[in-house]
Amino acid sequence: MNKYLVIGNPIEHSLSPKLHNYWIKKNNLNAIYEKKLVVEEDLKKLCDDVRDGKIEGFNVTVPFKEKIIKYLDGYTDTALAVKAVNTVFRKYENGEYIAMGDNTDVYGFEQSCPLKNYSKQGASALIIGAGGASKAIILGLCNLNVRRLAITNRTREKAEILMDQIVTPESFSGHFIYEWCKDEGNMGKPDIVVNCTSLGLNEEDRVPLNFSKYKKRFFTKKVIFYDLIYNPEETNFLLNAKKIGQQAINGKMMFLYQAQKSFTIWHGIKPEINQEVISLLND
Ligand code: ATR
Repeated sequence: MNKYLVIGNPIEHSLSPKLHNYWIKKNNLNAIYEKKLVVEEDLKKLCDDVRDGKIEGFNVTVPFKEKIIKYLDGYTDTALAVKAVNTVFRKYENGEYIAMGDNTDVYGFEQSCPLKNYSKQGASALIIGAGGASKAIILGLCNLNVRRLAITNRTREKAEILMDQIVTPESFSGHFIYEWCKDEGNMGKPDIVVNCTSLGLNEEDRVPLNFSKYKKRFFTKKVIFYDLIYNPEETNFLLNAKKIGQQAINGKMMFLYQAQKSFTIWHGIKPEINQEVISLLND
């Protein structure tokens, strides 16, 4: 039986096994997907196990998406651009098996983002947070033709480093860094605001940016408020967005689409995302 894993620390909360095992069963595959709590010292052996065929592949979650990179032999362009890996798979190259890294979070974000169907060219985005997750979102936004990118982060220096690393398309009109909790009124007129921080994982968490204060200047059109968090289903960030009449989207569909792409890489089958699959995550 082919074995797949999701590794992380903590890992108990992960819904990936439930989802992948559902698709494995639906597609009559002889495979199993498990979760594994690991420490950094385990990463090398896990990559060896992929090369040796003891494991077919694995997903990587917090806090190892960057740490796994040095143990791999090759990377997709997306993983290279984001410098973070969430999917490891085996590939036969030049007479040997190698462990490859991809990043399917970018695809997950793109597929789930309403900008995908946006008729206006060159949207404007505001990113909240400059951690590991922000990089995949920024690449996804560039792929979705965003032309203006603004970012704000509690630690300004991390936003500066992140922006320095980004290779933006030629069509880009610019990127801007704003002081945390100071500049809400000057953050342009974004079409989308994405919360990439971990603020919201605890129900009482609040993203301390006061957009409603600048309602007239900021919301001359309907803005998409997108939170990468999907558990809890509605963070305060999304609740507040709804209160001021904006569109609120959580990270559930992004999670499903990133998993769909990982599954396709490993099994060569694109599994279906339907209502049954979506409600699987609610139980
Ligand atoms: P991930 O890989 O999930 O992005 P991370 O790299 O640890 O995780 O990044 C967490 C993000 O949440 C960062 O932008 C972090 O801000 P700092 O760079 O200032 O640390 C942000 N964050 C976490 N807790 C926060 C808090 N209490 N207030 C403001 N921002 C917070």
